[in-house]
Amino acid sequence: CGIVGYLGKRNASDVIVDGLAKLEYRGYDSAGIAINTGDNLEIRKFKGRLAVLADNLEKDNVIGNVGIGHTRWATHGEPSDANAHPHFNKDMTLAVVHNGIIENYLQLREQLEAEGVVFKSKTDTEVVVHLLDKYYEGNLLDAVFKTISDLRGAYALCIVSADHDNELVAVRKDSPLIAGLGEDEAFIASDIPALLKYTRDVYYLDNGEIVHVKDNKVKIYDSERNEVDKPLIHVTWDIESAEKGGYDCFMEKEIFEQPDGIKHTLERRLDESGKIVLDDIHIDKSYLDYINKIYIIACGTAYNAGILGKTAMQKWMGIPVITDIASEFRYNQNFVDEKTLVILVSQSGETADTLAVLRDSKKKGARVLAVTNVVGSSIAREADDVFYTWAGPEIAVASTKAYTTQIVALYMIALNFALEMEKISEAEYFDIIDKMKEIPSKVQEVLDNRDYINVIADEIVGSEHAFFLGRGVDYALAMEGSLKLKEISYIHAEAFAAGELKHGTIALVEDGTPIISIATQQNLFEKMVSNMEEVRARGAYVVAISQKHNKEVEKVSNRVIYIPDSEDILSPIIAVIPMQLLALTVSSKRGLDVDKPRNLAKSVTVE
Ligand code: G6P
Repeated sequence: CGIVGYLGKRNASDVIVDGLAKLEYRGYDSAGIAINTGDNLEIRKFKGRLAVLADNLEKDNVIGNVGIGHTRWATHGEPSDANAHPHFNKDMTLAVVHNGIIENYLQLREQLEAEGVVFKSKTDTEVVVHLLDKYYEGNLLDAVFKTISDLRGAYALCIVSADHDNELVAVRKDSPLIAGLGEDEAFIASDIPALLKYTRDVYYLDNGEIVHVKDNKVKIYDSERNEVDKPLIHVTWDIESAEKGGYDCFMEKEIFEQPDGIKHTLERRLDESGKIVLDDIHIDKSYLDYINKIYIIACGTAYNAGILGKTAMQKWMGIPVITDIASEFRYNQNFVDEKTLVILVSQSGETADTLAVLRDSKKKGARVLAVTNVVGSSIAREADDVFYTWAGPEIAVASTKAYTTQIVALYMIALNFALEMEKISEAEYFDIIDKMKEIPSKVQEVLDNRDYINVIADEIVGSEHAFFLGRGVDYALAMEGSLKLKEISYIHAEAFAAGELKHGTIALVEDGTPIISIATQQNLFEKMVSNMEEVRARGAYVVAISQKHNKEVEKVSNRVIYIPDSEDILSPIIAVIPMQLLALTVSSKRGLDVDKPRNLAKSVTVE
């Protein structure tokens, strides 16, 4: 989501809408503002793109010098006028915009409802404004400090009050926020692009810090309410690179967002005892014992994630799982009936073939569980149960952070169902969760070693073909690696199950053919090494991806990308990172448009 706050001599609604327009890439399912007009708070908010709000203001603007605004990317509650931010208290004297997730909102909501508060939206954010209302006794900053001591989770907040036409308060915890300083004016924003037109002098807030803008002065406090002396930083980025967070393209930015994306998807769903809580999935033991199979259906990268989901489900739940491509599955003989759970994986939640499978499956009496990144998307709305991969908007056509969070999502579902079915022990369950918690830092470690990928990219940038080999989950990963490379670099790339090599594929190997060989599975390691040896002997340029202790791969490859050790089934989430970086680097070395490859669309809504 995007946040903008303003206090100063200009008309606040104009500055805010202008800033939000620069943040629209962060979310665009609804937008709203709250402005202190001198007498009261005027709140306007609408479902839809920012243009809906902007049109409304063009016809009838709100005049005032202090206000807040928001463009939303839904995490709780579908896009609607009511769920749009700002949220406000019953007298409309306090309003808040929020990015992030309030983890204990259900508990807070219940408490507030017991105290008589009536909620108007389905968002987690609304609890914040009712808490503010409860604690407010004339001093806005006091109320904010009291409120945040009740909150758990991640939040960037910006707050405005009807009683104070010269004040704004903002809070940052695990969700980005900056404060900008102009001449007799101050700004709050979730990202730099929102401010660049007005100022380049900003304070980067640290976790737990609170900004108090009063009478055009900015004061920053730590969580203990000590005033913090921070340097004012002069930003030199242009608007375009600011939108991309300083990265060259969105794909690069999204690749680097993966440690956070994986962490949020996982850790924000763990309760105090460390157990996974699946809010929007209402599947119990009796249903799981009743069904006799699971289908995982998807397209593109989501399909590749689905194959890994299948592996995890078969392993932990001991139930037959079939993965298929939506455009094939819907026309083939399938066995969907009321004893079938159909899991659909879709970043956008709008892919036409996947949606068609959803509707067919429901007609046949199956229950449908969606794994998607977009709240309120068609697939999310029509499915019986939903798991949201809280990856944030994915803009590059080539999917990266959606893929890794989809795998995490499918694994979490598999683990929870397996525990429910008593197919795995609590000890095993917690052990895997602990190992999953280590993934973000391991992914970060791979990202930190990016320079080496550059060397390999130089060596394959001129190739016409490239092949990806793997066995077991590494084969599923090879498919994703080859898809990434071909879709953005236009190098013909294909994935093969390493054991199938001798049945035809090996005829393609020539001197210098790049073969990316993934060898992360301990039980298949030796077999994989033999396959690498076979292609190497025929002149292939072998790039191995393996764990640090598997030094043997060095003998059968030209280059080795080492990844940190992890449980076999978890290694794809780490091993995919170098392949994403390789595709990105080769594409940009070829001078191509990484984010918008030719002939492709981000969301395919035709069949
Ligand atoms: C398009 C995109 C892919 C994506 C696929 C499925 O081909 O370019 O990145 O994997 O659609 O999209 P979905 O939104 O259903 O995950």
